[in-house]
Amino acid sequence: MSSSPSDRLRIAVFASGGGSNFGAIAKASIAGQLHADIVVCLTHRRDAGVLTRAHDLGIPTVVIRPQDFGGEPEYVERLLAELDAYDVRMIALAGYLKKIPSEVVARFRHRIINIHPALLPAFGGKGMYGRHVHEAVIKYGARWTGVTIHLVDEEYDTGPIVLQEPVPVQAEDTAETLATRVLEVEHRLYPEALQLFATGRVSVSGRIVSFEPQLSRNPTK
Ligand code: GRF
Repeated sequence: MSSSPSDRLRIAVFASGGGSNFGAIAKASIAGQLHADIVVCLTHRRDAGVLTRAHDLGIPTVVIRPQDFGGEPEYVERLLAELDAYDVRMIALAGYLKKIPSEVVARFRHRIINIHPALLPAFGGKGMYGRHVHEAVIKYGARWTGVTIHLVDEEYDTGPIVLQEPVPVQAEDTAETLATRVLEVEHRLYPEALQLFATGRVSVSGRIVSFEPQLSRNPTK
């Protein structure tokens, strides 16, 4: 098969908030560092900041709010229909606060990834998002936090780990300063993780995610 632009991995980004990770992925795609396209941005909030970013870049947006449907089956049907309509092959969660229905996880098994602003399995799970994570890290007295990119399964933050990178916690850190330093790493690591999928280098066996050929660089550099 030839490698035309239409062979590029078609990604849907799901986001609930400001979408700085959405922006980083889009930038890498436009710059040619990520051989993939964000074909749709999906959110459940009409006021999500990510919508403005997507509009500015000409990327289609879809707002799907679970409360607008008669029940879970109708909601799931709509989600799957939109993913089909955009011929989505991979879903990247970027600050998406709704749980992904199990039918969607099953349809996109090993093709949904999430970014979490800590080193899982520490400081993860239901309710651990945004500043709650950084506050918990500081309160616990952890010396290190970081970024985890993982496959999504039916639970919160438990799927197989794709990439991780540590970030030191400094004595004077607040949740805000820590979030800023962690986000810098997120913005670099998320496009890198997606590029591994875009180039077909990822295989998954149980909890173990491996890359072919193996990553050459030390991920903690
Ligand atoms: C990021 O910290 C991400 O790790 C977490 O939610 C936050 C989203 O930030 N899942 P943004 O909307 O991409 O700026």
